[in-house]
Amino acid sequence: MKITIVGSGYVGLVTGACFSEVGINVTCVDIDRNKIDKLNEGIIPIYEPGLEDMITRNMKKGRLLFTTNIQEALIDSEVLFISVGTPPDEDGSADLKYVLAVARDCGKYINDYLLVVTKSTVPVGTSQKVKEALQEELDKRNVSIKFDVASNPEFLKEGAAIDDFLKPDRIVVGLESERAEELMKSLYKPFTLNGHPVIFMDIISAEMTKYAANSMLAAKISFINDIANLCEIVGADINKVRKGIGSDSRIGNKFIYPGIGYGGSCFPKDVQALIKTAGEYDYELRVLKAVEAVNNDQKLVLFHKIMKYFNGDVKGKNIALWGLSFKPQTDDMREAPSLYIVNNLLKAGAIVKAYDPIAINEAKHHFGDTISYYEDQYETLIDADCLAILTEWPEFKFPNLKIVQKLLHRPAIFDGRNIYDKDEMKQNGFDYFCIGVNTSK
Ligand code: UDX
Repeated sequence: MKITIVGSGYVGLVTGACFSEVGINVTCVDIDRNKIDKLNEGIIPIYEPGLEDMITRNMKKGRLLFTTNIQEALIDSEVLFISVGTPPDEDGSADLKYVLAVARDCGKYINDYLLVVTKSTVPVGTSQKVKEALQEELDKRNVSIKFDVASNPEFLKEGAAIDDFLKPDRIVVGLESERAEELMKSLYKPFTLNGHPVIFMDIISAEMTKYAANSMLAAKISFINDIANLCEIVGADINKVRKGIGSDSRIGNKFIYPGIGYGGSCFPKDVQALIKTAGEYDYELRVLKAVEAVNNDQKLVLFHKIMKYFNGDVKGKNIALWGLSFKPQTDDMREAPSLYIVNNLLKAGAIVKAYDPIAINEAKHHFGDTISYYEDQYETLIDADCLAILTEWPEFKFPNLKIVQKLLHRPAIFDGRNIYDKDEMKQNGFDYFCIGVNTSK
């Protein structure tokens, strides 16, 4: 089978690489000539564990191609995936111009049946617009060619995307014809051998599933963060409460880790988009509005703890940060709590020094030379007045506490991800602060 994937961003590249890995001929298309040239030289524009190897391996085998020419890519393609960006426009809603431009290109160039599958996260009702745009172009050409549209939202997690694609919990597909169902079944067959299902449904429900899933996960995080803040006030320990509630299989122990708020390219955007969609239908998603409000506040919880420790004045204080990406195993800093924490520290007059295993280059785009960057986690601590952990990278979990203690001016650690044991920290002489535990006792 031959397929085309339009949009060589994060989703498109992972999807293209994984389909080619199981022997499908994939052509990836992007309008960015520079990006395609680099990909053809084997230079991958994003960091995702395992992706570079998989792309270069399949390029060598000739079953993964990169081009800017959609017309050429469409020759003999039975399925086309749309995975272009949907950046928020001025009012925060997803801008569909790139998605619909692909639909129009399909209408301009196809000569045979095509299944057009939307993979980009798009508002409920978008597949219908894709269908209309494509049909409009066919009408202009005065031809009658059969095509189908489908919605196939992705649930990939950054840092684990390859594994998520190869061994998915489930694959959700919204469609409206048997032919489309047969095609999607055979495409995804290699990925369902672990027994996990392809769940077929109507298109609107599939579009809704993506938003409902991400909103539910975001809700779990805001809920646990809200409870964590209360735990701290009443003297309970959120780490124990988390274990206590997580062992109830109805609640589950995943996605209830307290921290400094969710970030990334999905949760913040999708929560906002669903609130907006509801609003367009005169419905208010009250729970989701609270989820967003709690998360906005949570991003600054660690900053407030630092301020309190220094009696409200961090002017001239050296603050060392470990971790800048919104989560480990990625250099992505979109909506990362670090953006909010650093900006507030700088505004308050602090001097910020930071280390991250891979996000330093990305961080330079955001902070320029307003903060200093280090290549070694311990070097950041030289002359620092405290250390704050913003991302739970594995290498931060078992630091040499003697060195940390020796280098810090004041032995204060602000742990935004609860990766340390409060008693161990105290025994080692640290002033230790984390989320949802009153550590002054
Ligand atoms: C998420 C969804 O998990 C994925 O299914 C969807 O396709 C895209 O959005 P991603 O944004 O890559 O994936 O990251 P994820 O691992 O889900 O983490 C999101 C945020 O939640 C991170 O900021 C993380 O630190 C935070 N988080 C996660 C918590 O604060 N606590 C938790 O218990 C889990």
